[in-house]
Amino acid sequence: MNKRIFLSPPHMGGNELAYIQEAFESNYIAPLGHNVDSFEAQIKAYTGAKYALALTSGTAAIHLALRVLGIKDGDEVMASSFTFIGSVAPILYERCTPFFIDSDKESWNLDPNLLEEELSHRAATGKKQPKALIVTHLYGQCADIKRIAAICEHYGVQLIEDAAESLGATSEGKQSGTFGKMGIYSFNGNKIITTSGGGMLVSDDESLIAHARHLSTQAREPAPHYEHTEYGYNYRMSNIVAGIGRGQMEVLDERIRRRRAIFELYSQGLAEIEGISFMPELKGSSGNRWLTTLMLPEAISPEHLRLALEKENIESRPLWKPMHAQPLFHGANQKITGVSDELFARGICLPSGSSLNDEDVATIISMVKHIITSDN
Ligand SMILES: Cc1ncc(COP(=O)(O)O)c(C=O)c1O
Repeated sequence: MNKRIFLSPPHMGGNELAYIQEAFESNYIAPLGHNVDSFEAQIKAYTGAKYALALTSGTAAIHLALRVLGIKDGDEVMASSFTFIGSVAPILYERCTPFFIDSDKESWNLDPNLLEEELSHRAATGKKQPKALIVTHLYGQCADIKRIAAICEHYGVQLIEDAAESLGATSEGKQSGTFGKMGIYSFNGNKIITTSGGGMLVSDDESLIAHARHLSTQAREPAPHYEHTEYGYNYRMSNIVAGIGRGQMEVLDERIRRRRAIFELYSQGLAEIEGISFMPELKGSSGNRWLTTLMLPEAISPEHLRLALEKENIESRPLWKPMHAQPLFHGANQKITGVSDELFARGICLPSGSSLNDEDVATIISMVKHIITSDN
């Protein structure tokens, strides 16, 4: 059997263990300490966000964003339908009502025209506007974020950016995650950089991050007996895990360069197959190409390709099943055109880890070509 090629395995930079060692030496084996402070400082310096809070996961970061923006109990929250469940599960944690918006073909991300249509229709008919929009930059590629931010601003909708997959992606030179009121990143095991599990909440609003920080450590008031005026969570990142994050930040740019190069190899290597199209990159933006994702020709089933690659011990994955099509959200309010349904039906993610070498990618390309052509 060939050695397994994973979709997006962790890729350490080299200094992670030294930072973990530091935590052991200082005995800060706790959800606070020098690694946590340093990791937050690195994220601020890299993204340009003024404030950052290291947490146990990206999902926790979205949950805290909703909490500190005061969104709860029946409030309506709009969200990209084409996303991962972690983007939207916190809407349910806060007993809110989701409204899903479809993708456009230009970005595969949230369609700003649909958003504008819905919000302007509500404005014209006196219908209540949603409290917030959670927009995802899927697979590391930017949504049309400047326009989406302008629409939200115009209609008074608070914007939360789910940049879980897109750390380092930029739109007109500005980092994804820094356009809205709050943004989040994930360091889950398969992300462009990982801490094994973890997340970061960012904002330019000091009081929002201060409140989230308070909630992330059980909302303890500063009294020796632990006074509580509200409830919080145990969401703070461990100083051990943050040591991994410190080391990973040192190689983030390298990881982005490699993922973009892998994307180029795939797009050139598979260009001759008629009917294939890759996830686009909007003009003025530069994605991190976390995963190389593509739509297959109509005659080829993504599941057939996935299973054939699996036989060769190569991991690939269907595109995310849109939220409006999930049984969990059956009957949810939505504005859907069918774009994300088609992406789900015809799309696939190919192995994209930054540790893949050119020969591995060439092998995958020739296998994909062989499977597709022998299927025809
Ligand atoms: C788009 C998206 N949103 C949210 C999350 C949640 O992040 P986490 O797994 O760190 O909770 C993830 C990834 O896992 C994701 O891909």
